[in-house]
Amino acid sequence: MERTGFIFDLDGVIVDTAKYHYLAWKKLANQLGFDFTEEQNEQFKGVSRRRCLEILLEMGNVEVPKQQFEDWLVEKNTDYLGYIETMNESEILPDVPKVLKYLKQEDIAMALGSASKNARPILEKVNLLSYFDAIVDGNEVTKAKPDPEVFLKAAEMLDASPENCVVFEDAVAGIEAANAAGMLTVGIGDAEILSQATYNFKDFTEIDLEFIKQLTNS
Ligand code: BG6
Ligand code: MG
Repeated sequence: MERTGFIFDLDGVIVDTAKYHYLAWKKLANQLGFDFTEEQNEQFKGVSRRRCLEILLEMGNVEVPKQQFEDWLVEKNTDYLGYIETMNESEILPDVPKVLKYLKQEDIAMALGSASKNARPILEKVNLLSYFDAIVDGNEVTKAKPDPEVFLKAAEMLDASPENCVVFEDAVAGIEAANAAGMLTVGIGDAEILSQATYNFKDFTEIDLEFIKQLTNS
């Protein structure tokens, strides 16, 4: 049988860091004199830090010199790092360990496929780094989601062909990227927003191991 690869996004799938990204962007927006809502934050999920800032400035109609742009990028990340500094295992999303442990026990290849440049330190903080056979993050890709690069790289590192990979994602851009890579997709979150996913679940508490087992055979 062909080798199955399981690829997980990080923010909003494994840990609830989407809220920290949101708080850090909101703080910057407020400082620049405009508001930033949770609904607007949906557009930021799966999107690189640089692109997020471009979108934020478009939302606020703010024009900015190049150096100031770079400074704001640093400022946002510094705020974000402040939020994640104290993270621990309690911030792993419910029932995620159940799935990771099962896959590990079955010796199924697992990779992380994230747009974040902070992925490794976060995995270390929540003690999950050892589960992953490969990590592809924002430091390793040249084209951001919805480009399939991040997931194709992860599949290659797992030695699995894309059609035998399953991707867990909470972002529209991420589902698009995985679909473009020819992989099965599991949308975590609002099924209406993630309507392009092969399967949809609100969160991991809705996923039973029988479903995961079936995916490993597909
Ligand atoms: C993604 C998040 O995982 O990582 C985005 O969904 C975020 O919201 C992106 O902008 C980049 O993260 P970081 O940690 O490199 O700023
Ligand atoms: Mg995400």
